Amino acid sequence: MKQELFKMAVAAREKAHVPYSKHQVGSAILLENGKSYSGSNIENASYGGTVCAERVAIWKAISEHGAQTVKEVVVVTDAPEAWPPCGMCRQVMAEFCAKDTLVHTANLKGIQKTYKFSDLLPDSFTPDFLSK
Ligand code: THU
Repeated sequence: MKQELFKMAVAAREKAHVPYSKHQVGSAILLENGKSYSGSNIENASYGGTVCAERVAIWKAISEHGAQTVKEVVVVTDAPEAWPPCGMCRQVMAEFCAKDTLVHTANLKGIQKTYKFSDLLPDSFTPDFLSK
């Protein structure tokens, strides 16, 4: 599956809107229901309104299907060393990913590193805490 997600992320990356940073990023995710979604980073002239590729992919998926567990994530940049997800994306992932969700970071040559989500954001603040 990760190779399909990698291809989707590479294609999504082409649609990145990055007039400010010039860094195109693509992402693709697999949901528990078997559907997959991609996203690219979309920057904004206010800078603060910029949204990373991972969050665009997650919000596209959840807005179509409602809350779903994300089983796998791929993030692609063209940097020699693949970029790990930023802190804000990790918090958004904490809402929908499981501890064992795989997060693959890649550049255009392929996947470089694979993390378990719980290693990217240990002891994360999840919706569970609100009901305790
Ligand atoms: N960015 C992502 O889309 N995903 C990441 O994992 C890290 C950063 C974007 C945000 C911004 O548009 C550009 O990359 C430079 O930070």
